[in-house]
Amino acid sequence: MSEVSIDVHRDGAELTEALRHDVREGLSAPVKWLPSRWLYDARGSELFDRITTLPEYYPTRAEREILATRSAEIAAVTSATTLVELGSGSSEKTRLLLDAGIAHGTLRRFVPLDVSETALAASADAIAAEYPGLAVHGVVGDFTEHLDFLPGTAPRLVAFLGGTIGNFLPGERAKFFTSVRSVLSAGEWLLLGTDLVKDVDTLVAAYDDSQGVTAEFDRNVLHVLRTRLGADVDPAAFDHEAHWDAQREWIEMRLRARHPMTVRIPGANLTVHFEDGEYVRTEISAKFRPEGVRAELTDAGFVVRRWWTDAQQRFGLSLAQVRD
Ligand code: SAH
Ligand code: AVI
Repeated sequence: MSEVSIDVHRDGAELTEALRHDVREGLSAPVKWLPSRWLYDARGSELFDRITTLPEYYPTRAEREILATRSAEIAAVTSATTLVELGSGSSEKTRLLLDAGIAHGTLRRFVPLDVSETALAASADAIAAEYPGLAVHGVVGDFTEHLDFLPGTAPRLVAFLGGTIGNFLPGERAKFFTSVRSVLSAGEWLLLGTDLVKDVDTLVAAYDDSQGVTAEFDRNVLHVLRTRLGADVDPAAFDHEAHWDAQREWIEMRLRARHPMTVRIPGANLTVHFEDGEYVRTEISAKFRPEGVRAELTDAGFVVRRWWTDAQQRFGLSLAQVRD
């Protein structure tokens, strides 16, 4: 077992305070919404892992296919000594990058960062056990707030996989890329996974699977409201929907009220009324075009050195370097 340490930048009390703020803002809006980070407590992380194995959920398989063929090239091009992974979850595909970096002889340290403490601790421990000699330094934190605390020596490779960048609104994306750019030095690297625009049936099936796992993942945000803020909401009173917004090119996950109801949320000092059929937006998952990814990275101060897709061109992976 190699050395493992975990820094906690977001403890339980801070999470509850941040949730209170988001609930008061999002559930008082004319069209109700909640930020997607609240889908991920221990149960949400487990449900997401189940989603990645569903036949309809192609992004994980497509990205793994790219990583399986390109990890050696990524290690050779970057010669990274530290691999930082943002929103690391179970870091399952990341093992391909770890194997390649170690085989290349340069990789010494792995820094997974995730808001879900249980998922982070479990995967940091598992990786430390599997990779003796690799220092594992986990960070429990929010990737929109805690990038300044990232440890490691240059050249670092920051991986942001799974298409999680699609869970940001467009303005938040630009801010995020700029903040990643600002914590890196010239010559350091970003590896970015982006799900690509494709036919609507494939997209909707991926976010509304036949076994109902995604529906349960979506409703998990209501379980989080119950446990963290004492909300008296009944998750079974909401239907899950996956809606494709063709103009904005994103999937919206929505929870739609099956009947009119009043929900009390004592931990946020809030009472919320739902009309029959009214919905809460719980996630956006934007889909990208290659030229759009390149433009956004370039605007933030990166140069795209490589662009790869899987054989069916469902998913894109960019390797970008901070411009001098
Ligand atoms: N990278 C993995 C997991 C993707 S799921 C993969 O490719 O399969 C998204 C991950 O991001 C989850 O583990 C979730 O807990 C984490 N996450 C979501 N919002 C976050 C935030 N604001 N800060 C840090 N982690 C976040
Ligand atoms: C983590 N993120 C990229 C997933 C996605 O596809 O947007 C989350 C997810 N939502 C529903 N299924 C999976």
